[in-house]
Amino acid sequence: MEIKVGASILSADLSELSSVIKNLGKAGIDFISFDVMDGHFVPNITFGTDFIKSFRKKTNLPFEAHLMIEKPEKFIQEFIDAGCDIITLHVESSDKIESAINYVKSKGKKVGLALKPKTSIKSLVKYMQSIDMVLVMTVEPGFAGQKFIDMSDKIKCLNKIITEKSLRLDIAVDGGINKDTAKVVKMAGANVLVSASYILDNDYKNAIDNLKMA
Ligand code: DX5
Repeated sequence: MEIKVGASILSADLSELSSVIKNLGKAGIDFISFDVMDGHFVPNITFGTDFIKSFRKKTNLPFEAHLMIEKPEKFIQEFIDAGCDIITLHVESSDKIESAINYVKSKGKKVGLALKPKTSIKSLVKYMQSIDMVLVMTVEPGFAGQKFIDMSDKIKCLNKIITEKSLRLDIAVDGGINKDTAKVVKMAGANVLVSASYILDNDYKNAIDNLKMA
């Protein structure tokens, strides 16, 4: 199974972000994940579309916008205009998820659907035919550097549905991922690993290689 690794820049020194992104690219990262938070859906505020757009011309790496905001459907076009290639929406964040998914797809971009740790997969089974990625949160969203919550049962269950229905979609995990927890989620069937602290606090290339080979 091919493993992809994304770097969340949530815990990066934002004043150095251009060179951080450049160095992540040299170290073999597969995509950059921007954790967008509005202070309502999660208890933290980060950045918006102008911020992301300012880095778009610095790299060819794919950008993922992980939208931890209420009513994300209002802002999807702005994130696409900012150069995001993957738009990840939280299934808990809106009652217009289906039309939001369709909108992203109609613009030729990839769409992910994220689940908080306590959210059941029942809430997204009906969308699995239409999306490119399920993002299983392995921490409560909001902050980098939290302790990993084992979501192996959820990942295994998703994998079973994917096999039964012959679907093609990625299972991503985000939160507390390091070389030890990467083993756990990969054993369960995840193939996309998103990490902030473990990559950014270590030698990027070693950390990315460790995650890919865990
Ligand atoms: C939570 C964020 C984090 C972050 C990862 O809202 O989505 O999961 O990207 O941070 P680390 O890798 O430090 O847990």
